[in-house]
Amino acid sequence: MKLPLIYTCFSLVVTTLGTKLPSSFMKCDVKQSDFQQCLTKTVENAIKQMNRPFKEVNLLNLEPLEIPSMTIAAGSHVMYTQQVFKNMKVSGFNETTCSKVEFDTDSKILKLDCVVPNFRLEFDYEINGQILQISVYGKGSGWGVYFDNHLKLTLKLGEYEKKGKKYYNVVKQQLSMLMRDVDFDLGNLFDGDKEAADRIKKIFKENALEIYGDVRSGYEEAFGLVFASIFDRLLGKVPAAYLFGEK
Ligand SMILES: *[C@@H]1O[C@H](CO)[C@@H](O)[C@H](O)[C@H]1NC(C)=O
Repeated sequence: MKLPLIYTCFSLVVTTLGTKLPSSFMKCDVKQSDFQQCLTKTVENAIKQMNRPFKEVNLLNLEPLEIPSMTIAAGSHVMYTQQVFKNMKVSGFNETTCSKVEFDTDSKILKLDCVVPNFRLEFDYEINGQILQISVYGKGSGWGVYFDNHLKLTLKLGEYEKKGKKYYNVVKQQLSMLMRDVDFDLGNLFDGDKEAADRIKKIFKENALEIYGDVRSGYEEAFGLVFASIFDRLLGKVPAAYLFGEK
């Protein structure tokens, strides 16, 4: 009967103190003069380490990041089809570079400006509608790569207290996502009619950015929520004092 008692005491200590960031993560103190530069390096470095989960702080594995389902609404100019994705796996975060990560403690706004050179998606998909006035349908598995995917994420944080400690949470997110180019394949397009599929895929690739532009806000909304939830999970575990050396 000793073990449960020890375990209880231990978990009590942990919940009272909150969880610190993993020891392999760099740390920045909001009072240091180069806080913003420190944060930029720290966040980039942490993202690169996330090829495994950090369960103690609720961080998932990013290599790959698994998204069970994502539905992107039809556009209004060239992409007249809803896109349904299932079992999506996103990878390539290990090569992320961040040019700017800023946190303003007064407005509690966290801004990230990062590029993922090969943002790779693997998924099961379903589409049925019109793209560039061509009828398309297909259901199968596919992949896509967004080259130099430029992500600008803005998170508005709120704060609350738990057991005498200040914690942040994400109250609002906004994502801008724009890539230099796109490559993709959609298996089983037109029920496997390869000739028709190849013809269409060539047209779509030539117009990929125009097509993306029509549904961009849907992608930004969906991925914005995914990225915000990754931060929110971490923020729920690690008190503000352990994140930025705040008192
Ligand atoms: C990132 O991961 C990919 C796929 O596993 C690998 O090919 C690449 O070399 C990795 N890049 C770095 C910088 O570790």
